[in-house]
Amino acid sequence: MTTSTRPPLLMLGRTHGNRSAVTCALKCDNACAAPTPNESTEPTFADVASQALLSRRRLLLAGGTLAAGAALTVGPTALEPAAASGRPPATRTPPAARPGGPLRFDPIASVPDDVDAVTVPAGFGWRPVIRWGDPLFADSPDFDPEHPDADAQERQFGYNNDYTDVIVTDPRGRRALLCCNHEYTNRAIMFPPTSSVAAEAEVLRTLMAAHGFSVVQLERRGRGKPWRYRRGARRNRRITATTVFRLDGPAAGSELLRTAADPSGTRVHGTLGNCSGGTTPWGTVLSGEENFNGYFRADPQAVGSKRYGLTDSPSSYGWEQIDPRFDARSADHANEPHRFGWIVEIDPTDPSSTPRKHTALGRFKHEGANVRVDRENRVVAYLGDDEKFDYLYKFVARDRYRPGRSKAARRHNLGLLSEGDLYVARFEGTRRPGNDNLGTGRWLPLVEDGRSAVEGMSVEEVLVFTRLAADRLGATPMDRCEDVEPSRETGKVYVVCTNNSDRGVKTGKPGADAANPRDANKNGHIIELTETGGAADAQTFAWDLFMVCGDTDQAGTYFAGWDGPVAPISCPDNVAFDSENNLWIATDGQPGSIGRNDGLFRVPLDGPERGHLTQFLAVPVEAETCGPVIHDRDGSVFVAVQHPGEDGDWADQHSAFPDYVPAGARPAPGEWRGPRPAIIQVTRESR
Ligand code: FEO
Ligand code: CA
Ligand code: CA
Repeated sequence: MTTSTRPPLLMLGRTHGNRSAVTCALKCDNACAAPTPNESTEPTFADVASQALLSRRRLLLAGGTLAAGAALTVGPTALEPAAASGRPPATRTPPAARPGGPLRFDPIASVPDDVDAVTVPAGFGWRPVIRWGDPLFADSPDFDPEHPDADAQERQFGYNNDYTDVIVTDPRGRRALLCCNHEYTNRAIMFPPTSSVAAEAEVLRTLMAAHGFSVVQLERRGRGKPWRYRRGARRNRRITATTVFRLDGPAAGSELLRTAADPSGTRVHGTLGNCSGGTTPWGTVLSGEENFNGYFRADPQAVGSKRYGLTDSPSSYGWEQIDPRFDARSADHANEPHRFGWIVEIDPTDPSSTPRKHTALGRFKHEGANVRVDRENRVVAYLGDDEKFDYLYKFVARDRYRPGRSKAARRHNLGLLSEGDLYVARFEGTRRPGNDNLGTGRWLPLVEDGRSAVEGMSVEEVLVFTRLAADRLGATPMDRCEDVEPSRETGKVYVVCTNNSDRGVKTGKPGADAANPRDANKNGHIIELTETGGAADAQTFAWDLFMVCGDTDQAGTYFAGWDGPVAPISCPDNVAFDSENNLWIATDGQPGSIGRNDGLFRVPLDGPERGHLTQFLAVPVEAETCGPVIHDRDGSVFVAVQHPGEDGDWADQHSAFPDYVPAGARPAPGEWRGPRPAIIQVTRESR
């Protein structure tokens, strides 16, 4: 028997939205080809559709500047505590933006989508820090894709790195912890075809071991020197699809979370579909379980199946063939899908700690979670549900952040995401007097003061079926919220909506509205949200469109009022800030929308250059830019290069990233020339 190199039910040969067909199938289980899970038909604010944009354009044409002043006057500046990555506490007002900041570079030109290379600015170089399959422990086997081995993969760096942080852990800046999740796998390009059921089962086990999370210690000789990972370091850790997690918070132990194997409803094996994330001020890492539905067969009539995209078809991954818990059609495993779709929290400093899944933050296709602590030490986490026409959420912790490095403070802070209230956003197109460019909105309570705020649903039901609860409240269906990240300098929150080609196109679905201003939105946009009074737990907010992405030749693009040249950009996804409060934007989907490789861009948020977008790097063919980590004062940028050469096959690899053979050289006999997802570091090579 020859087993196909592709799982059997992938719908290849067509693309959905901006991604390749392979990415659609593996990453999100062909979500775009299925009925949109959110069948709610919310008011569309049609009366204000696109008016915010049009109003801005008129102002621009009239010579007005739409820079900071127009939209940045709500509430005092919030001061934020230090990040775990060693940044000093912010004790100042937003910096006057310096063009370029500490990391000055000559922008690169947009790169065509058939280029298999990492492109960086002149004077910069790049190198992989760690690649898929690199051994983490002293006894880890070396990378050998010709011989898939689950035990080996359990002790090697995982596949398809997404959220990434580099947390410096010593005052001299010579040690750091690289924390990174592994979203999904691509069997067709990772391993050769097999010829027996037993051999294919080992491949499936290896793929399970390539999911999850890695903690890897990095070292360097001094500031400005390149980082290298240390094999066998004490804190190195792999978390996979079988590692034990503890469910905590109000829904832990609920009947909705119990299975035959876990009657306590508190112990889950593994984490799946981890997309973006965030690093907390207390030094842990959060990661969002996103497209978990694609791993299960389930009863399509069960509560929530339709809304969460669960079907009774064989899964794309086929894991139900080797582990019955992935077949949720049986009573023993019916609740297993409920145990995924959470925000997970991992303590990278303690390899023996049990990672947790926080039920208080709700269950949906979590993109990630980013925590803000305001000047009163109130703690919130911003959460996006990355599905067409799904919602933006905010969690407000019951307890306040306790500053300091004492054990008591740390213990307290580790519990902050376990109890609190959950809200979903409703954007409104009403105008503020005297400022016709500003929208308002409110956070609609799902759980408030620890009690359900949704009629007819218990707290446990609201948290396990959060989408169903939010549907009842009139939340605003968004254009796929990806990263939602607050600025530590200003407290303003940047809501990244990557795209939604169905808006205003699919029968019965909402058309353009103020916060999602374009029908058939192929290129995405970014919203700038300001909590009323600057308070993290505010129940209302103001918002403005910060960027409406696309090729700059296209009508309707908008770059925060900047009217000079900018880089073309499409499908914004993950974001990060540098030390000067510039926003760095990573993209996912440019090949399908504007025919360019995905990239990393920088844009000032304040000052005269607000909106002046430039491109810093481009990733190789068929790859997505993830991670970004900006250590600009160190002259260093990290990105996670995910799914390079995604559309290839074992016998027809499309990318050799990152181990490119120099021009004219030949691979050594038996040397594997396929792609390896990797974390790369970009540094200045010359001045
Ligand atoms: Fe995994 Fe929302 O991108
Ligand atoms: Ca993403
Ligand atoms: Ca981010």
